[in-house]
Amino acid sequence: FNDQVSNDFNTLFKNLPQQRIYYATAVPGSFCGRLFPKQTLHLVHSSAALCWLSKLPNEITDSDSSACNKGRIHYTDAPKEVADAYATQYSKDMGNFLHARAQELVENGLMLLQFPVSNVLLDSDVDPAKVFELIGTCLVDMAKVGVISEEKVDSFNVPLIYPSVKAVKEILRGCDECFSIEWMEILEFKNMVSLPIGQIFVSWFRAALQGTIEKHFGAKIVDKLFERFAEKVKEFPDIMNTDKLKLDVLFVLLRRKNKFSTSNSPVPLNICHKMYKT
Ligand SMILES: C[S@@+](CC[C@H](N)C(=O)[O-])C[C@H]1O[C@@H](n2cnc3c(N)ncnc32)[C@H](O)[C@@H]1O
Repeated sequence: FNDQVSNDFNTLFKNLPQQRIYYATAVPGSFCGRLFPKQTLHLVHSSAALCWLSKLPNEITDSDSSACNKGRIHYTDAPKEVADAYATQYSKDMGNFLHARAQELVENGLMLLQFPVSNVLLDSDVDPAKVFELIGTCLVDMAKVGVISEEKVDSFNVPLIYPSVKAVKEILRGCDECFSIEWMEILEFKNMVSLPIGQIFVSWFRAALQGTIEKHFGAKIVDKLFERFAEKVKEFPDIMNTDKLKLDVLFVLLRRKNKFSTSNSPVPLNICHKMYKT
C-alpha cells in the first residue's frame, strides 16, 4: 500500500481482512516521486488517486496573475487560465509518476491505473466539480459570519482534477519510450458509484476533502462546514444524480517496455494539455 505520510496506516492495517493470507506492507510518500528500489515491481495498481495534484499551481493564489482563482475553490467555472494552470501541474505530476514507476517496474511489468476523467470543460449544469462550487459557497457563508477569514477562503483551492481522455493519451504518448498501452477503456462512473442518500453523499466528500480542509483552515471548522454542506445538498438534490454526472472512469493497462534504460535521466514530457471539449 502506498499513501502520503499523513495517512493513518495503522487504521488501514487494523481493517485488513484477518482470514486472508497475504503479506501486507505500506510505503509512505508521494507517488510522484520514487518509492521502491529499481526494477523490483511486477504489478502496480493505482485506483482513484491520480486525480490529486501533488501541489496547487502557485499562480492561482497570486493576485497579480491572470490565473488567480479568487472567489472559487476549484477550476469549475473559472477563467481558462485557471484550468490551464491545473492542467499544466497535472501533466508534470503524471509525468513524474510514470517516470518513477518506469524505474521501479521490472521489464514487462504491468501497471493498472484507474482514475476519473471528464471530457467536458467543467462549467455546465451538473458536472462532477459542481459540488466544489457548493462547498465553496458554504465557505463564503462562513466567512460572512466571521467563522473563518475571507483571506483564508480566497487562498483555498481543491487540488483535484478530472482530465480529458485526450489529455491523458497525450501524456502517455510522451512516455511511450517506457510504456506500451495494452488496454484502455472508459468505464461509466454512474455504474460504479451510486450515492442517492444525502448523508452518504456528504460523508463521501468529507472523507475525500477533510484532510485538505483541516490543513488549510484547522480541524475546528470541519463539522460546521459539512453541516452547512448537508443543508445545501438538500436544497440542490440534483447534485447527487449520477445519471447527469459528466464523469467517467478511465482504466489503463500499461506494460513497461523491455528496452527502456533505468538511468536517472528524466523522461521528456514537454506536454501542456488543455481541458477543452474534444
Ligand atoms: C480516493 S482515495 C482512493 C483510495 C484507494 N486507492 C481506493 O481506490 O479506494 C485517494 C487516495 O490517494 C492518496 N493520494 C493522493 N495523492 C497522493 C500522492 N501524491 N501520493 C500518494 N498518495 C496520494 C490520498 O491520500 C487518498 O488516500
